[in-house]
This record gives sequence, structure tokens and C-alpha cells, in this order.
Amino acid sequence: MSVKEKETDLYNSIGDTTGLSKKERAELIKRAKQEAKEAAMRKRTEEREAAEKIKAEKFQNERKAGKHKTLAEITEGKDDYEQDFKVPEGVVVYCENLIKLYKVGDIEVMALQGLDLSVKDGEMVAIIGNSGSGKSTLMNIIGGLDRPTAGRIYVNGINLLKLDDNQMLQYMRETVGFVWQNTARNMIPYLNALDNVKLVMQMAGRLDSNRANELLEIVGLEHRKKSKMHELSGGEQQRVAIAIGLANNPRILLADEPTGAVDTKTTAQIMSVFHKLNTEMGVTVIIVTHDRQLSHMVPRVVTISDGRIGTEFIRREEIDVNSDEMMNATAGHDSGSHIEYGFIDGRRRLFIPEYYLSKVGLHEKCKVGIDVKDDRLELFKPEDESI
Ligand SMILES: Nc1ncnc2c1ncn2[C@@H]1O[C@H](COP(=O)(O)OP(=O)(O)OP(=O)(O)O)[C@@H](O)[C@H]1O
Ligand SMILES: [Mg+2]
Repeated sequence: MSVKEKETDLYNSIGDTTGLSKKERAELIKRAKQEAKEAAMRKRTEEREAAEKIKAEKFQNERKAGKHKTLAEITEGKDDYEQDFKVPEGVVVYCENLIKLYKVGDIEVMALQGLDLSVKDGEMVAIIGNSGSGKSTLMNIIGGLDRPTAGRIYVNGINLLKLDDNQMLQYMRETVGFVWQNTARNMIPYLNALDNVKLVMQMAGRLDSNRANELLEIVGLEHRKKSKMHELSGGEQQRVAIAIGLANNPRILLADEPTGAVDTKTTAQIMSVFHKLNTEMGVTVIIVTHDRQLSHMVPRVVTISDGRIGTEFIRREEIDVNSDEMMNATAGHDSGSHIEYGFIDGRRRLFIPEYYLSKVGLHEKCKVGIDVKDDRLELFKPEDESI
């Protein structure tokens, strides 16, 4: 039945509306239309689910018959130019000289300009940068939604540049989970929280109802599992999104502006869920955001600007994460919570924050004196700048 037919059907089923006011009649018609729309969406999802399930079963059978290799086998030494390359020990996300060029008509935008980044297994990292600095581009590449123009990217030992579209889909289902800022992208609105988590499992051919319930418990939303998106607050929607992101037990959880649309208190709640997953379940968490306030809630903060990694902040070990000072501190050159580091990228370019440059009278694109004192490198303003 088409949406139109369903609408007419529902409209007829309303029956005699003569005794109703104009407003009540309009309300009934509106509801009928909404129900028809939801029924049509439900049907489309069911059809998609059925098709996905058949595809997943076929894939599992073919895999048993040895037709498909595991992701690890795919990337094992089959590529001459990568034969000698080994991802550093313990590194789960490895990006080297990543370049991403977008072309819109005649205009080219270089969203990533030779980006280097290593994230260790079990780390929790925030990548902070202004709008347009390349955060989403990087996340989409790590998440397998987009491919870099050039460079190297290995995630969990898998060389993403070698995966074909089917293998990439498998990678996205098995290795990474995604949490978006836009909740509509995370959740199907007419399904409740639990069914949303189950749907993702079903699509990967591994439905586990107990686990789905457990995930909602982990994010503190067991009692809201029957709620649909519009019945949940912004923060609750994001917590469901985290449960959805974890549905297939990924090693890595990627979150793009997960707190972009919520207030400070809710931000702290969402961040504490990420902490819990990281410390108790060992999931590697990578969050990108423009919100510098998040920095004090994360042990490692990496800055990104113009598609490259800049300074890093590592939390001081002696800091008590739950202390009041901690919640009010912000990572920065003068912060008590984190230690700031410069960064030397793969081409030996050194990134020095503006604060340090201006302290010794240096600025961009100028000559700089270099000296080694014991095991320290000193950078200073040369007496004669023309040298
Ligand atoms: N699909 C695309 N086509 C063309 N240009 C793009 C595309 N996606 C991103 N860009 C450009 O690449 C640059 C980096 O974009 P990106 O979305 O990664 O930034 P961002 O740091 O996530 O920004 P925001 O904080 O606003 O989300 C921007 O200049 C953007 O206009
Ligand atoms: Mg973005």
C-alpha cells in the first residue's frame, strides 16, 4: 500500500468527523498522516533489514567456505610497497602524512595537509580545532567513510588504503563505532532506544538482545530503553548514540562533536560515559571537537589546525580527575592540569604555539637561532636576523 493509499485508508477509518470541531478534525488528519508516514518508514526499514540479513548470512557462509579473508589476512604482507612497513608497537590508529583534497568545480580544498597522528590502544584522545580545521575529514577517514588522497593510514593493523568497498563495510562494522553530533544521524526516530541498538547488531548479522540491554545499562539508560528519540533529552539521545556506536563491540569509538548541542552539565555526563568505556572496557576513544572546555576532561589533547596536528597536552599524572580544580581547569600553556608539548611531524617541521614564540620575540616565517645545551634544544631570536 502506498503512503497515499494508507493515508486515505486511515482517513476513512477516522469515520464520521461531523461532530468534531475544525481543530479536532485537523488534529486527527495530522495524526493519520504521521502514522501513515511512520508505517511506510517502518516497512522500508524492515525491507532493508531483511535484505541486509540475507547479505550478512551469505557473507558468513562464504566466509566459512574460505571465500573471504579476515581483515587482518587482507593486509598481511601482500603489498610490495608496504612490505617493510610496520605500525609502531601498541599503536591502534596510525596516520602518516595524510592528505585529503576535495574538488568542488574548479576549486580545490586541501582539508588535510600532511597530517601525522598516532593513537595507542586503550587511549582516550580529544582532537581540538576550529571550524574547518579538518576534524570531520580526519574522523571520516579513520571511520572508513571517506578515503584519503595520499598518505598512510592503519587502524588496528589494517591498511585502509587496501580495502575495497565490501571490505571497508566489514571494517566499519567490526572495528569502529561512530557517534555523531546530529542525533538524527545516530538514531532512527520511530524505533525505540533498544531497537536502535539491536538494528545495528542485526545489520552485522549478530543480534544479541542481552548485550543490547547491557549496553543501555552501561550508558545509564536501561530505564529509557522503550523511549523513542523525541521522548529523550539531548544528553540521553547522545548516550543512546554511544550504546549504538558500541553495538558491534568495536575496538575504537569515534565521536564527532558529541557534546556540540548540549549544556555544560550534560557535557560532563556524556564525557563520564566515554571515560567509563575507556577505563572499564578498554575501548580506545577519539573525540573531535571545537570546544576547548572539553580538554580538561580528557587525558590527552591534540590540537589540529589547517589539516595538521599542532601542540599536544598530556594530563599531569598527579592530578585527581574528580577534583573540583580539575573540572574548572582548561588545558593551555598556563594550565595546571596538563603539560603542553610541541610536535615534530614526519617532515621534521616543528610546531610551536604562538604563546612561546611571542615570549622570546619570534614570529611566523622568521629565522630562528638553534643551540643544544646538554640534552636540551634551545630556540631563540638571532641577534642578526639577516644571517
Ligand atoms: N565534501 C566536501 N567537499 C568539499 N570540501 C569539503 C568537504 N568536506 C569538507 N570540506 C572542506 O574541508 C575543510 C575541512 O572540513 P571539515 O569538515 O573536516 O572541518 P571541521 O574541522 O570538521 O569543521 P567543523 O568544526 O565546522 O565541523 C573545510 O574547508 C571544508 O569546507
Ligand atoms: Mg566537523
